Amino acid sequence: AFNLKGRSFVKLLDFTPAEIGYLLQLSVDLKAAKRAGTEQPRLTGKHIVLVFEKDSTRTRSGFEVAAYDQGALVTYMGPTGSHIGHKESVKDSARVLGRMYDGIEYRGYAQSSVEELVQWSGVPVFNGLTDEFHPTQILADFLTMREHFEGPLNSVKFCFLGDARNNMGNSLMIGAAKMGMDVRLCAPKSCWPSSELIETSRQIAQQTGAKITITDDIDEGVAGCDFVYTDVWVSMGEDDAVWEDRIRLLTPYQINDALLKRTGNPAVKFMHCLPAFHNADTTAGKDIQEKFGISCMEVAEEVFESAASIVFDQAENRLHTIKAILVATMGA
Ligand code: CP
Ligand code: NVA
Repeated sequence: AFNLKGRSFVKLLDFTPAEIGYLLQLSVDLKAAKRAGTEQPRLTGKHIVLVFEKDSTRTRSGFEVAAYDQGALVTYMGPTGSHIGHKESVKDSARVLGRMYDGIEYRGYAQSSVEELVQWSGVPVFNGLTDEFHPTQILADFLTMREHFEGPLNSVKFCFLGDARNNMGNSLMIGAAKMGMDVRLCAPKSCWPSSELIETSRQIAQQTGAKITITDDIDEGVAGCDFVYTDVWVSMGEDDAVWEDRIRLLTPYQINDALLKRTGNPAVKFMHCLPAFHNADTTAGKDIQEKFGISCMEVAEEVFESAASIVFDQAENRLHTIKAILVATMGA
């Protein structure tokens, strides 16, 4: 019923709710087939290049394992591994890669770069994260919600707290609008998505019955939620100098036991796209933690390590949902 062959996946705005639903159902099927040992390769002999201008653990692994499971081959080009964007323009790189590869994954800075790859490569392009959007993550998140919630996605209520104008806040808002969900973005005003994107999501919501709430009030944001979601307060590519201001703004929005209680839902689940800052066990986190203490973390260890936390289900689902995108757009 749905033919996504040859399509790129660079933002959810390009897809209808039914197409997103189809990709989620294909993810369910592919996950079950892998578990049962009955997966059929539909990408045999395809070559996919993975261009990463920023680092990655989940997205890279998701694309690599998905490709190999399906019989495709990948080339990884890391932040220093190619000329793209440094010595050669995105437009020229697109025309080179499109002559050799059947598909291109791209993680970088500007959304316009990934759109330029679509325009000039002639092959499907997959957005592995830009400053503006992280659409493959949203499919994994919605699949995970389906697994942890009884009922359809359009009866899910969830709240994203923290830096709501980053790639995750933007993408969750659009994804929820498309799927008719009750989404709240809860942050100080300076961390809200752009008014244009809010307006776009409200227009989509009129068609889908979604409810979009943007608020700085935590109780309004989290009341009755099935899921509470957060992300790092400082994203890849941002200057370390922004930490101090971000901590001042966002500490009240930290996900801890007290905040979960304010949902009024004892069964509320905690979500995070990861990597998360929840203890001082990382080199990146250590410096900040020494300077600012526990208030600098977007999620407290007590929640991250609790039974409410479903973050590693989300991480695993990156594989199955990325595979669905590859199969739907490039599969035989
Ligand atoms: N969530 C996510 O995209 O993780 P990586 O940066 O490890 O790919
Ligand atoms: N907002 C985060 C997401 C990481 C998957 C970042 O861009 O660094």
